[in-house]
Amino acid sequence: MANMSVCEFRPGLEGIAAAQSSISCVDGQKGILEYRGIRIEELAEKSNFLETAYLLIWGELPTKEELEAFEHEIRYHRRIKYRIQDMMKCFPESGHPMDALQASAAALGLFYARRDLDNPVYIRAAVVRLLAKIPTMVAAFQLMRKGNEPVRPRDDLSYAANFLYMLNEQETDPLAAHIFDICLLLHAEHTMNASTFSARVTASTLTDPYAVVASAVGTLGGPLHGGANEEVIGMLEEIGSVENVRPYLEDCLERKARIMGFGHRVYKVKDPRATILQSLAEKLFEKFGHDKYYDIALEMEHVIEERLGQKGIYPNVDFYSGLVYRKLGIPTDLFTPVFAIARVAGWLAHWKEQLAENRIFRPTQVYNGLHNSHYIPMEKRSLLGKDHQTIY
Ligand code: CMC
Repeated sequence: MANMSVCEFRPGLEGIAAAQSSISCVDGQKGILEYRGIRIEELAEKSNFLETAYLLIWGELPTKEELEAFEHEIRYHRRIKYRIQDMMKCFPESGHPMDALQASAAALGLFYARRDLDNPVYIRAAVVRLLAKIPTMVAAFQLMRKGNEPVRPRDDLSYAANFLYMLNEQETDPLAAHIFDICLLLHAEHTMNASTFSARVTASTLTDPYAVVASAVGTLGGPLHGGANEEVIGMLEEIGSVENVRPYLEDCLERKARIMGFGHRVYKVKDPRATILQSLAEKLFEKFGHDKYYDIALEMEHVIEERLGQKGIYPNVDFYSGLVYRKLGIPTDLFTPVFAIARVAGWLAHWKEQLAENRIFRPTQVYNGLHNSHYIPMEKRSLLGKDHQTIY
């Protein structure tokens, strides 16, 4: 069959614009990240997660009244229904919290089934519900997998303080809550990454926002994306000492193994979020005690810069976030769900933007398979040369 059209295939769609967006912007050469035109450093210093979520989703900073109303709605919607909790109680405790989160986010679509994408009231309710309930679901799974009842959210606590309270079953130090809030802000949005693309593809079918978030959560979980923060801690533990950093990394480089928490498709310098997270980690160590893994991390950054700096490989957002979360008492396998709590803001902003000028995603492909083959009768087929294994 003649080739009907010639199109270029770029693995990973590198350099291909999948959407027009005014939500965030990265300059990977200069190490600049802006949300709606505002530098991330300025937001981290002056704003908070919910105000920034509002900025991302509605395109401008809220007035005092708008922010108060938004925060009030979110506080009011933090609780999850008993039946969602009952469903989550049936999840296997050995399952990964990202899988629990993906299933719970999708289940919200069952409980809030009405879909009315042209109605701003519906859009706002979905935004509020997802931002409010995702942290509650992450904390609830953490407690339930240990055999405990989930802790009810507290309306008198801020967004960040309430999550840490639900997780640790005790009130959190104000500095710790403030630093956690900045972490959420830093992870809230990051242009057309894999999970955001996934969210937009799902959104483009005009399905419900819970399915949009569930598909993005599934995409975020992989070790090349959000899952890297979890792997960084495993690697620091494996290295164990500052002296072992160089031999460990040399071995990785020789084996051409990926070093988690380093490298980025867009940034060719140190990720600005990594710089802020590093300073947050230092603030935490100052108040709550040093972490020996920080010394290992510093040495890693030094060696990687020396060995891979010329390739533009520097720490990304996932390198220092794990050290901050460890100090906040967050278990390692909750690092990626915590990333998801924050990124819901960006996914929802992209959902709204996609709906505003929607065209269903339907890319093409470069077909490199067979043509004009024929059905082979069973008795003439052979297993020879095929890699099949029976799974019991
Ligand atoms: N360790 C060692 N070498 C690396 C790394 C790394 N972490 N990252 C890139 N390289 C090398 C790679 O081997 C290749 O070398 P060569 O040209 O000699 O073959 C070159 O750099 C380009 O790599 P690439 O795979 O073409 O780059 P990419 O843009 O497809 O990959 C990445 C980006 C983030 C997937 C990759 O840097 C990586 O695997 N990093 C480790 C995982 C990680 O930390 N992920 C979190 C990313 S940031 C947050 C997020 O997205 O959630």
